[in-house]
Amino acid sequence: MKLADLQIVRTTAIDIKNRKKWAVEIRTAWQKTVEGIFEVGRLLIEAKEEISHGLFEEMIREDLPFSPRAARMLMSIPKNDNLVNRKHASVLPPSWDTLYELSKQDDGTFSLMLDKGVIHPEMKRGDVKNFLKERVFAEKRKKEKLERRKKNTPTLEMGDAIKWLKKQEPADLILTDPPYLTDVDNIQKFAESWLPLALNRIKPTGRAYIFIGAYPEEIHAYSSIAMPEQILVWTYRNAIGPAPKNMYRLNWQAILYYQNPDCNPLDCPELNELFAVQDVNAPDGRHDGRYHAWEKPTDLADRFIRHSTKPGDVILDPFSGTGSFLVAACDLGRVAKGCEINKKMAAIARGRGCEILK
Ligand SMILES: C[S@@+](CC[C@H](N)C(=O)[O-])C[C@H]1O[C@@H](n2cnc3c(N)ncnc32)[C@H](O)[C@@H]1O
Repeated sequence: MKLADLQIVRTTAIDIKNRKKWAVEIRTAWQKTVEGIFEVGRLLIEAKEEISHGLFEEMIREDLPFSPRAARMLMSIPKNDNLVNRKHASVLPPSWDTLYELSKQDDGTFSLMLDKGVIHPEMKRGDVKNFLKERVFAEKRKKEKLERRKKNTPTLEMGDAIKWLKKQEPADLILTDPPYLTDVDNIQKFAESWLPLALNRIKPTGRAYIFIGAYPEEIHAYSSIAMPEQILVWTYRNAIGPAPKNMYRLNWQAILYYQNPDCNPLDCPELNELFAVQDVNAPDGRHDGRYHAWEKPTDLADRFIRHSTKPGDVILDPFSGTGSFLVAACDLGRVAKGCEINKKMAAIARGRGCEILK
């Protein structure tokens, strides 16, 4: 492209003023459509009160451009407190049948839909039905999970991981997230104290996924003790906190992947789940609750559990924290056992459905 072809677009103060002016005018006209629907509903209500029932019905049939059924729906719109609340005006869709569908929702459902962004100017009537359907399914899934958890409760023993590991029978999988270089005095010594022991507790058909910090020294320490089959990467785009000045911000963690010689092929029909780089946002409390600063996402745990075990298999997590891996394993029908040294963490794990053994 020649330099002369390049147009330099300068945003002036006048442009910004004009943009705002147009936005206000267009928004006002858009909202008038919603107000028009309210107005039609109100006029119908008033007319119904003033003229006899027979004449009212006749007027709708003969003089108005919509059916008696549509008239009844329109009348219920201005009677709904949530719809007439001025706070909600900017998100309501200018579509009478969608507004009618919204008018049928109770206060709790309406505010949940607002929170989840389901109510917006472009929403359709079907979106309300889809939301309700999805909510019924979600409730059903939650109940089923709780039922499963009652029958198959993850257990978490309070104490030191090393002592605990020594007592464990060989398991099908070790899935764990030990303290990082920043949490221990000497990462080499710490890794030496537990990794060989843990790898010794895996069946000849088993595997291990060990989440470690993205620090060269930490990766070196672990790899020098037991070279993993592969180093997988968990990356998350929602890294928060202040940006470092002369370093890159860490938005990944290493996952050391070990497998024993007799293990079956990975069970992973979804090809994109087989990528060595797993891109899954970290729990940050924006969508669901967050239980621990270094909590791992359930979606990621689910993948590794599904890929390398089957229902009924035993999964160990010697550094369970708030029990994220134990709960995920149990929800997938696996037998989950863990250990945690910190009482506060164990209490959170209990709240998530783990049985605490002392
Ligand atoms: C990185 S956190 C694990 C967080 C966990 N993935 C979650 O989602 O909640 C590591 C955990 O190991 C625990 N821990 C540290 N040293 C331990 C030890 N010697 N034995 C057992 N647990 C230990 C810590 O208290 C911490 O909760």
